Order: sequence, then structure tokens, then C-alpha cells
Amino acid sequence: MTQDELKHAVACAAISHVVPGKIVGVGTGSTANFFIDELAKIKVQIPGAIASSEATATRLRAHGIKVLELNEVTSIPVYIDGADEIDYSGAMIKGGGAALTREKIVASVAEKFVCIVDGSKLVKVLGKFPLPVEVIPMAYSAVARALSMLGGQPLLRMKEGQPLITDNGNMILDVHGLHLTDPVAMEALMNNIVGVVTVGLFAQQGADVCLLGTIEGVKTLTF
Ligand code: A5P
Repeated sequence: MTQDELKHAVACAAISHVVPGKIVGVGTGSTANFFIDELAKIKVQIPGAIASSEATATRLRAHGIKVLELNEVTSIPVYIDGADEIDYSGAMIKGGGAALTREKIVASVAEKFVCIVDGSKLVKVLGKFPLPVEVIPMAYSAVARALSMLGGQPLLRMKEGQPLITDNGNMILDVHGLHLTDPVAMEALMNNIVGVVTVGLFAQQGADVCLLGTIEGVKTLTF
């Protein structure tokens, strides 16, 4: 099976976690896109969705799925999203698609985080994938120095020769060379750096369920 086929399989499996009659939180990225395409098939069963990025909002609307503002809703039973890495405790690295801030906000409101990934994303220790950190543009240099003190090598994410700008008007530092044996503690330390908007470590509040795409089928891990 190809990686895309595994992503498609977990996206299909995630549909059973959507609560009929309730809002669903929707993540960002290629796996989330497969999920959006499946969600479109059952769109009459849900009043709408909360999007974690402009790209996701655009795809949802293209399928005729109503996109609601987070400020309009009081509860989200489930948030469904991919990850760049997930460990055996449900802690994740996210933000490869630069949407980490809105992803973390929507996830924080949701009662349940269902992570959908192909098997290559499951790791013993997080950190091989560079950790994305969203920063206020005027502070990126100072934040990079502080992140270096924590043992990483931060690199400003570029796009077409310019710093990438997020949906929120900020920049991304990708921190290389981390070995995150205590992701909860590292998330707290990084959150304390002035100028950091969001750390792409989802450890203090990780996934509740992981649907893992493997050649033997979709496995369910619960945390
Ligand atoms: C988006 O900012 C990320 O958090 C994605 O969830 C993550 O990069 C996974 O993306 P893929 O599903 O494309 O691998």
C-alpha cells in the first residue's frame, strides 16, 4: 500500500468518530484532506465544521460543508487531524503545514482528539521531525537564541525565498536536533519563551485516540 492509501484508510476510519448532529473540528494537511473528502459524503449528518486553517476552510466550503467560527460554538465533541510524529503516549509534533496555532486552539476546545496517521509517523521518541514553533515576527531572532539554549537548532521556515507567513501573520522556526524524552516539560519550557505564539508539541494535551494506518489494516491506539 502507498502512504496515500494508508492516509485514505485512516481518514475513512475516522468517520465513525464523527458525532451525528454535532460540530466536528477539522485539522490541516494531506491526511486531513482525505478526511474532509470523506466527511463530504456524510455532510447532511452534521451542522458544520470548525476549520484549523484557511486551507481547510476552503476545502470544506468547496464540498458544501458549512464552516463555523470557533467563537460561535460552545463545544466540539471531536477534533480529527494528522500529525508529523506521534509517540506511544499520544504526544505529537504538529505544524509541518504551518497551521499549529489554530490546530492547538481547536484541539483545546474539543472533548476528544482523534489523530489520523500512517504508520511511519509512530515513533518511540519525538524529535526527528523538526519541531515547528510559531513566533511573533519581531522576536524570531531572540526566540531562536532561546530555543538554541534548550538544545535545538532553529531554522526560519522559508517559502519562495521569503519567510513563510502563517494564517495569523507570524513566522515559523523549525527546531532541528531535538530528542524529546520529556515532551510535556519541553512544551512548558518553550511556551515560556517570550515571543513564542505556539509550540508544535501537543504533549500536555495530546491525542486521545490514534488511528494508525498499517499494511495489516487500521490499528486503534487509545491513550
Ligand atoms: C499541519 O500544520 C500539521 O500539523 C499536520 O497535521 C501535519 O503536518 C501532518 O500533515 P500530513 O497529514 O500532510 O502528513
